Amino acid sequence: MTRITITGGRPLHGRVQAAGAKNAALPILASTLLGGGECHIANLPQVRDVATMNTLLSLLGASVKQEGTGVVIKADSVQSLEAPYDLVKTMRASVLVLGPLLARFGEAVVSLPGGCAIGPRPVNLHLDGFKKLGATIELEHGYIRAYASKLQGQRIDLEMPTVTGTENLMMAACLANGTTIINNAAMEPEIEDLANFLNARGAKVSGAGTSHIVVEGVSQLHEAEYRVMPDRIETGTFLIAGMVTGGDVEVSQCIPGHLDPLISKLRESGAEVHETSDSIRVKAPAKVQALDVQTCPYPGFPTDLQAQMMAMMCVAEGTSVITENVFEGRFLHVPELQRMGASITVDGARAVVKGVPQLTGAQVMASDLRASAGLILAGLAAEGETQINRVYHLDRGYERIEDKLQSLGAIVHREPASA
Ligand code: UD1
Repeated sequence: MTRITITGGRPLHGRVQAAGAKNAALPILASTLLGGGECHIANLPQVRDVATMNTLLSLLGASVKQEGTGVVIKADSVQSLEAPYDLVKTMRASVLVLGPLLARFGEAVVSLPGGCAIGPRPVNLHLDGFKKLGATIELEHGYIRAYASKLQGQRIDLEMPTVTGTENLMMAACLANGTTIINNAAMEPEIEDLANFLNARGAKVSGAGTSHIVVEGVSQLHEAEYRVMPDRIETGTFLIAGMVTGGDVEVSQCIPGHLDPLISKLRESGAEVHETSDSIRVKAPAKVQALDVQTCPYPGFPTDLQAQMMAMMCVAEGTSVITENVFEGRFLHVPELQRMGASITVDGARAVVKGVPQLTGAQVMASDLRASAGLILAGLAAEGETQINRVYHLDRGYERIEDKLQSLGAIVHREPASA
């Protein structure tokens, strides 16, 4: 167990490079199970969730070899069709192997993801979609068992635009008989990235990135080389870090268009923003202004930047409002921010944040991945020392975060929690 200690109050200045996107890497890695041959996947972020997915693929029988910051995966045969509880409990996205295994081998067994710190996160829409494609689904002993001799293309109308649900069904449909249409599909850029990889392997997916995806089934997928897109959430986190500390931060090798909702909110709060085709630079104003932010599925403001934005609002001038529309109960960072002197009241899905002149360092506890990022940003802005415990949440999704923050001038280091 380690913790991160930050001595706050220093404006961050400089440039960092965006890592590959965790939420694109995970479905792309899972989709290697759809066929044989060597898949070379580059620009993987060096984060724990990616390592967990690679472990899961190895456990299923795929060969996974490191290649620089990427991997070479060969899934010509698999020895197991089961994603066990011990892995799934550490990463819900393990459920992404369900679609590929079911479509290619006619069977898959995946532990139910179960409870999660950011509210109930069911997978009912994934399962309803698989049933629509002709699968039999049984839930027993905490596991999902799915069977289908051959999936059949169908029209699926998603009740809600679930991101991993859209990905799971899109992957499964690649090997189904006939055409599958996914309506009300999630439109996140990571879904388009997955579709590009699938198409590079010979799949016929169109419309990914819109709410209407059409997949024409093919008999098999072949090998391919692919480079994972940049991480828009990591990019946004560093830009907000610049804002919260009154600094000037540039993120290179990113895709600015993926961050439009954040950029317009940062401008509204007084930031000076410069964009090129692959970089964003944000200069903080003398005083960040309060904002009204509502999280929504893409292209709305991402829920995965909500905690970071709240940290900024804590020190903004005026009263801000955040409405969390995607995940019920995703405010676990609030009590921790309050321990640092923030003035926040929560009423259901709405948090009202009254800006204070200064946060003060404290010992806080990370509850989930993005909440941890919010606490890091609050610590960077706070006067004095902040200790963030349970940083393993952070390591699931941020690559070398202390190194990158140090390169921007932050005083931050990691130490054993017992020290
Ligand atoms: C993905 C992202 C996560 C991000 C989230 C929303 C990955 C690996 N994770 O998570 O970082 O915060 O999108 O942008 O890409 N829902 C149901 N039934 C289902 C599935 C979802 O009711 O079967 C609900 C959820 O409870 C939630 C909403 O749909 O309220 C959106 O969840 P979803 O898009 O599925 O999130 P994830 O794919 O788990």
